[in-house]
Amino acid sequence: MFASSSDATRAEPSNGEWSPPSLSIIVPSFNERENIEALFHKLDEALVGIPFEMIVVDDNSPDGSAEETKRLAQKYSNIRCIRRFDRRGLSSACIEGMASAASPLVAVIDADHQHDERILPKMVEAMKDGADLVVGSRYTADATADAGFSSLRLKGSHLATWLASLVTGRPISDPMSGFFIVRRDRFDEVAPHLSKEGFKILLDIIVVCRRNDIELDIREIPYQFRSRHAGESKMNSLVVVQFLGLWLSQLTGGRLPASFLLFSLVGLSGVAVHMAALGLLTMIFHQIFVVGQIVATISAMTWNFFLNNSLTYSDRRLKGPALWKGLIGFCLICSLGGIANISVASAIFEFGHQVPIAGLAGALMSSVFNYSVTRIFTWK
Ligand code: GDD
Ligand code: MN
Repeated sequence: MFASSSDATRAEPSNGEWSPPSLSIIVPSFNERENIEALFHKLDEALVGIPFEMIVVDDNSPDGSAEETKRLAQKYSNIRCIRRFDRRGLSSACIEGMASAASPLVAVIDADHQHDERILPKMVEAMKDGADLVVGSRYTADATADAGFSSLRLKGSHLATWLASLVTGRPISDPMSGFFIVRRDRFDEVAPHLSKEGFKILLDIIVVCRRNDIELDIREIPYQFRSRHAGESKMNSLVVVQFLGLWLSQLTGGRLPASFLLFSLVGLSGVAVHMAALGLLTMIFHQIFVVGQIVATISAMTWNFFLNNSLTYSDRRLKGPALWKGLIGFCLICSLGGIANISVASAIFEFGHQVPIAGLAGALMSSVFNYSVTRIFTWK
């Protein structure tokens, strides 16, 4: 038998007894070494009679989660490890894991045991009953998230759930869940359109299906969200801002990518930095406006570069020597963007349009230019 015998190693494909997994379980992992083996045994225990494989997608965690997974894969043939370098991101890890799966059903579960794997057979049952997507929910009548969340995090989660309901267009109690099963053929249909940024893979699958008129029979199974087994959560303010970027992008029907919206928000914050620096410098060197303007411009560009590097492009963050090369390239590109801004704004002004319109058109022109060109050369 392929799965469901916690004591034995798995049969080899050549001995005739092997049956393919009907469920691929994707486990995104960053610094989860202490959780992986115990999670596998819990899955094995819960999934009696359901052939499964566990695919850990690890972003080269410093704690050696990938080595640990590979050690286990030598023991159990239904464990695989995808190890990614120079990349970070929960959604993109899930997408790569799901894209590598061959089973007809694909699940995602966190490595830290917060999701109750014992409801997986019920979730599989609902899939066999005709569902396209089954969500493990912390927020239906019989479920709770109290044990796994602080009260502040719980409030934030409720707010995010409400914001999400505005873009899903249907009542789903936990669209931010990181625990679900989807039919692989459905996933394969939407995969090319999914956002690789942030944490919200499930929400994105639902919204992209809606946008492409793909029918989804969604069911929810309640469970009690547990506290983390070992290690620490990777949720932080960056993830929250990334969620807002994705949400705004979904509000535009996906026409504006989340990365462009985040890039523009960063640009706006750069204007504040510019004005503050300019104010300070003209106070110090009152006569020499141009010195203040040059230093303020460089400060704003540097600010924008570092903020984009850790927020907009956190999944492909530049480090070491590439960081400094990236900063110089970014400043050069944005200087060209500045020239484009001034030329477009002046031309529009000369055509007789009002100052605010000309100014706005110039600013828009340079954001599109800076965004597109730095995406090609700086954050490839
Ligand atoms: N490969 C990879 N890369 N995995 C990651 C990354 C990353 O950059 N960041 C987090 N993970 C993995 C963690 O190792 C864990 O297995 C899982 O993703 C969830 O991360 P946590 O850090 O434990 O998130 P959480 O518990 O705070 O958030 C949970 O609730 C959110 C909604 O409130 C998760 O279930 C999220 O998926 C969910 O959206
Ligand atoms: Mn967690």
